[in-house]
Amino acid sequence: MYELPFLDLPALDGASGTVRLPGSKSISNRVLLLAGLCAGTTAVHDLLASDDTRVMLAALQALGCALRTDADGVVHVTGLGGQLAVHEARLFLGNAGTAMRPLAAALAVLAATQGGSFELSGVPRMHERPIADLVDALRPLGCGIDELGAPGYPPLRLHGTAGGRLQTRQPIRVRGDVSSQFLTALLMALPLVAGEHDVVIEVVGELISKPYIEITLNLLARFGIEVQHQAWQRFTIGRGSRYRSPGAIHVEGDASSASYFIAAGAIAARDGAALRIEGVGLDSIQGDIRFVDAARAMGAQVRGGPGWLEVQRGRWPLAALTLDCKHIPDAAMTLAVMGLYADGPTRLSGIASWRVKETDRIAAMAAELRKVGAQVSEGPDFIEVTPPLDWRAATIQTYDDHRMAMCLSLASFNALAGASPASGGRDSLPVPGRPVRILDPRCVGKTFPDYFEALFGVAHATPENVPVITVDGPTASGKGTLAAALAAALGWHLLDSGALYRATGLVAQWDGVSPDDEAAVARLAAALDLRFGQGGESGRTWLRGREVSEDLRLEATGVLASRVSALPAVRKALHGLQLAWRKVPGLVADGRDMGTVVFPDAPLKVFLTASPAQRAQRRHKQLISKGIPANIADLRADLEARDARDRMRSVAPLKPAEDALLLDNSDLSIEDSVAQVLGWWEQRRPFDALPSVAARPPGASSP
Ligand code: DC
Repeated sequence: MYELPFLDLPALDGASGTVRLPGSKSISNRVLLLAGLCAGTTAVHDLLASDDTRVMLAALQALGCALRTDADGVVHVTGLGGQLAVHEARLFLGNAGTAMRPLAAALAVLAATQGGSFELSGVPRMHERPIADLVDALRPLGCGIDELGAPGYPPLRLHGTAGGRLQTRQPIRVRGDVSSQFLTALLMALPLVAGEHDVVIEVVGELISKPYIEITLNLLARFGIEVQHQAWQRFTIGRGSRYRSPGAIHVEGDASSASYFIAAGAIAARDGAALRIEGVGLDSIQGDIRFVDAARAMGAQVRGGPGWLEVQRGRWPLAALTLDCKHIPDAAMTLAVMGLYADGPTRLSGIASWRVKETDRIAAMAAELRKVGAQVSEGPDFIEVTPPLDWRAATIQTYDDHRMAMCLSLASFNALAGASPASGGRDSLPVPGRPVRILDPRCVGKTFPDYFEALFGVAHATPENVPVITVDGPTASGKGTLAAALAAALGWHLLDSGALYRATGLVAQWDGVSPDDEAAVARLAAALDLRFGQGGESGRTWLRGREVSEDLRLEATGVLASRVSALPAVRKALHGLQLAWRKVPGLVADGRDMGTVVFPDAPLKVFLTASPAQRAQRRHKQLISKGIPANIADLRADLEARDARDRMRSVAPLKPAEDALLLDNSDLSIEDSVAQVLGWWEQRRPFDALPSVAARPPGASSP
């Protein structure tokens, strides 16, 4: 995926369709470790692909687990059966707390009983994340643990002598008020040594984040381990416990990620068309599923079953909410943004933990919500959001925090906010929507790499709100290259309209239809079955299911295209197809009549030219590089003749739109041309100037 310094979201006014959620991070890494500890092979379906799961997979492999990913993306893990296969390893665990804590516990127990030496380290930030509570719980059992850096922090070395025994007859005590991950780590490690007698874990202090312990207990049960607990303070792993692979296991979609789409449905799924969310359902084992109750309290209509949810707007505006959010700390951020669309102030309390997450989320949320026009007050453990009276186009900082980016994207539904109560009633007067600029949008990769693609797949905007930049110009002016570079820089869709005419010419040839038979060619154009590759397949094209990426670029195809493009009925047939490309978040449209005929209201039109000498030289280079002999003088004469014909022709003549900006790129590099057009575009944007944005590396934004 290309890197984007920013992504502009147009004002959105609808949401419908289906979103498939990526797997839950918490479940993914627990399942991987459990599969690695038990005997036999476990097929893990819908595993989250992210940095944190990648380090866990690498660690399992280093420990001797066999891993195989099949064609359907299912990861097959063959576990150790509780027996170390290697007795020495150095494991690098990045910044994955969900790998460090449970692996430390499991390897401490295995090394102590079977002998071995394991070093666990991570990125510098990982070495600032405390692990003392876990070390303090494990040492009294007889586990050998050396802290290789600061006491109480990774890196750690875990060691023991073969045949060593652990003191597990006494209750094992662990603090529960700093992180529930330490208890989770013990719950997953100690079944390895609960053969002869019960193992009891006692929580010292109040246990925070109980929902995450519920996930752990639930998954342990799937792997054959029953744990009894008394009031979340005393946990008993029964004698004779033994890990058993469930054979296959599905990783639920991430319930925190679901919150953004539940919110989008509550705000924008109207007219009886629900927004469907697949991968997580009302039966979810994740605590954040209780976000559904909060969303309902604000007015969302939510239905659901196993593995799916359907959400629609219930009441509008949303009902303001006052809620203690201790039970849903991550998803509660989404409620703060829903507060923008409420009928009064929304007050969320019990969120002190926000202050110590990826960033100080209370401060960050307050600052960014104020930018769109909300009134926000905050305290040590609460935030209160009063909806904007006047929405503003805002440049949103994301603080290298995936949830800030995903949450604030929901501010772009402001086209639905309606007029403020102060200006005459929300439902009566629609306000023009305001675009929202998200800085460093790729920070969503931590849990939801394709978040924006998923959002754009279900979000709608009225066409006037979806920006279009048109790039017209003569043959060989470099339109295609410029347009593709602009689309990549902005994260927009790209319409290569010439490809539509080329494809029409090709099917006419395939079907033996004369390129001059206007009615027949127009019928083919109207039924064009053309697919452009996305993501990893970008740049490739299929026509009637057959790949035509190369055929489309052939000179002969260009000649056919030039003939069929002169037929008015063909142009008409392709018109609607081209309009349909105007989709969220924006479109760069390349072709000679994009600014004049197809998108006459485009907010920026570029007419690209270059001297015939330059264009002839470029075309010459292109042909020679393909091994096609060519002569510059002939090419130039050809181009000049074609220009003259194109200007004169009655159908779609080549001419700049009156409001087009001319860009003569004869002496410009591609980068210069792109920078020039982006500069023009920036001048038309309502955002505050951010001179350093383009140069800022992703993640470098600061509060
Ligand atoms: O840009 P290109 O070489 O792929 O265009 C192929 C032919 O289609 C060329 O003769 C110009 C014509 N065309 C057109 O008439 N209108 C467009 N919007 C795009 C291309």
